[in-house]
Amino acid sequence: MPLESLKKLYPAANRSRYAIGQFNVNNLEFVQAAIEAATEAKAPIILAASTSAIKYAGIDYLMAMVRAGAAKAPVPVVLHLDHGATFEDARNCVDAGFTSVMIDGSHLPFDKNIELTARVVEYAHAHGVSVEGELGRLGGIEDEVSVDAKDAHLTDPAQAVEFARKTGVDALAVAVGTSHGAYKFKGEARLDFERISLIKKMTEMPLVLHGASGVPESLTQKIAKYGGRLPGAKGLPDDAYRKAVESGINKINIDTDLRLTFVAEVRQVLAENPQEIDPRKILGPARQAIKEIIKSKITLLGSAGRA
Ligand code: G3H
Ligand code: 13P
Ligand code: ZN
Repeated sequence: MPLESLKKLYPAANRSRYAIGQFNVNNLEFVQAAIEAATEAKAPIILAASTSAIKYAGIDYLMAMVRAGAAKAPVPVVLHLDHGATFEDARNCVDAGFTSVMIDGSHLPFDKNIELTARVVEYAHAHGVSVEGELGRLGGIEDEVSVDAKDAHLTDPAQAVEFARKTGVDALAVAVGTSHGAYKFKGEARLDFERISLIKKMTEMPLVLHGASGVPESLTQKIAKYGGRLPGAKGLPDDAYRKAVESGINKINIDTDLRLTFVAEVRQVLAENPQEIDPRKILGPARQAIKEIIKSKITLLGSAGRA
């Protein structure tokens, strides 16, 4: 199939309360793993490239790899810009053929975030490309000492309504207690599910959860067994995915879990086969393991069998 616009996939996810997985890709193995996982799980899938992934791989290589994979896949595949910072980031991706872009103005004052996001929406929509905006600052709830400070960084539901109306975004990324990377929570994992439900009720729009990796102990332990060190790493428990989706999340972003999987496999192969120099034998098992973890996430999000 040709690449699909995310705009077309959201209504069913929003209506039937499931989430589509966004998986970040940087190279051939990740692209293949994601598309094969979606094919086997019969699920729509979003492959995302951050601006640093684009810088690393080259936008033309990323486009060509994802297009080639999507052409063979019997499921909808979206290519999405993750955390575009400027209008030019978004425009370059639209022009290159991405079918969805995120413009992240969450660090800007509210009115400037609206201004930037609306400008991207105008350009992207004219080219049939969907847009995700972000409101609020990602960060753990327990990182803030006072209730006021917590409210200041989490997404404000009334502002979300105004933001959606004034920008025309197709989806909204919300700050509800998650953060990027492998160290999300110092103590217990805490997400503000009530806030998700309220934003959903008030905006009725597709909502996005960033920083949603699970950081399973099985992976951090395997990495440690083969010489890595990630003390204190912690992510979302499986139950949090289910609750987030029930509360109204329709897109869930995962990068760190794929990185952990990749590193665990590569470390194991190299540790157990010190004479191995064939890159295919080093990267092949990682590709297979990434495919398996993506399939398990797709099942958790409820998007298996939806394509
Ligand atoms: O949200 C951030 C993603 O994990 C992308 O990270 O900029 O290192 O590619 P990156
Ligand atoms: P993780 O770091 O939890 O995988 O989050 C990725 C993300 O939000 C990409 O936009
Ligand atoms: Zn993110």
